[in-house]
Amino acid sequence: MPSNTARKIAEPPPVLSLASGQMRKDQDISVRELRSMLDLAHDMKEHPERYAAALRGRYLALLFEKPSLRTRLTFELSIQQLGGGAVTTVGPIGEREPVKDVARNLARWVNCIVARTFAQQTVDDLAEWSGVPVVNALSDLYHPCQIFADAAALERHFGRLAGLKLAFVGDGNNVAHSLMLTLTRLGVSFAIANPAGYDPNPAIVAEARKLATAHGTKVTLTHDPEEAVRGSDAVYTDVWASMGQEHEAFERNLHFEPYRVNEALMHKAKKNAVFMHCLPAKRGQETTDGVMESKHSIVFDQAEYRLHAQKALLLMLLEGSNS
Ligand code: CP
Ligand code: NVA
Repeated sequence: MPSNTARKIAEPPPVLSLASGQMRKDQDISVRELRSMLDLAHDMKEHPERYAAALRGRYLALLFEKPSLRTRLTFELSIQQLGGGAVTTVGPIGEREPVKDVARNLARWVNCIVARTFAQQTVDDLAEWSGVPVVNALSDLYHPCQIFADAAALERHFGRLAGLKLAFVGDGNNVAHSLMLTLTRLGVSFAIANPAGYDPNPAIVAEARKLATAHGTKVTLTHDPEEAVRGSDAVYTDVWASMGQEHEAFERNLHFEPYRVNEALMHKAKKNAVFMHCLPAKRGQETTDGVMESKHSIVFDQAEYRLHAQKALLLMLLEGSNS
């Protein structure tokens, strides 16, 4: 055999369609579809050229009621790198005209709507009235696209997801909700340590616990950061005041002070545990500059995978097949 025989390039993974036809919240994607999305995301990272024309002639409308760096730019780049295009608006949705009218206008022009909203209801209404796939780009309740990237970054780092344990230290917020709803179905146990009064939504916890039981994982709630972090493979945090809660920041800072992810807390996790953050981060509040910059930090791998995972999601929503 010639010594320069090219390494066999694996076939691209199949592109499954999402049976729900929507990505309004984590529960809209099945475990089989999640697995397929992760395989596709990894392939897109390695072989972007395979997908350069996959969504030629397809257009997205991106609607942002809240600020964004990562989500907005990675969705714009995602569709461009797949051969399509995007238009973006920033500002309230449903103020100048009702959401149901916005939805029916957009449906005449684009193939998919990506929306970052305050109320989850706005995402649901856009889906109901437009009839095109709607992607939740963060609402007050969920941030599924973030967790798709997180799962891919974790899998890339550890070579697997099954059997991992992730500890979230901080507010029981949208990111925490999506982590517990999605990672637990991929074999990752989830523990959250939050201050009293800042618990995750009880209905979402109940649902996540049901999903976790069905997939052999666990959801643990505590107010003790060390208890959550002990034995974990990943320690995750997020801002103490989410977008829309800025007016509560002073009071929140007082309650969250013992929940900072610093070097001492990271030492309670497993030796090779990684530090994760969806970003943007407030150094000196939920974490320290030292932890952010440490060799354990995979925050920019998470940010990178926003692009690959969202490309995979868009392809599945707009071109996937069930065969
Ligand atoms: N993590 C994340 O969603 O970042 P942006 O708010 O910048 O989009
Ligand atoms: N929980 C944060 C996430 C930002 C990406 C927020 O909603 O502001």
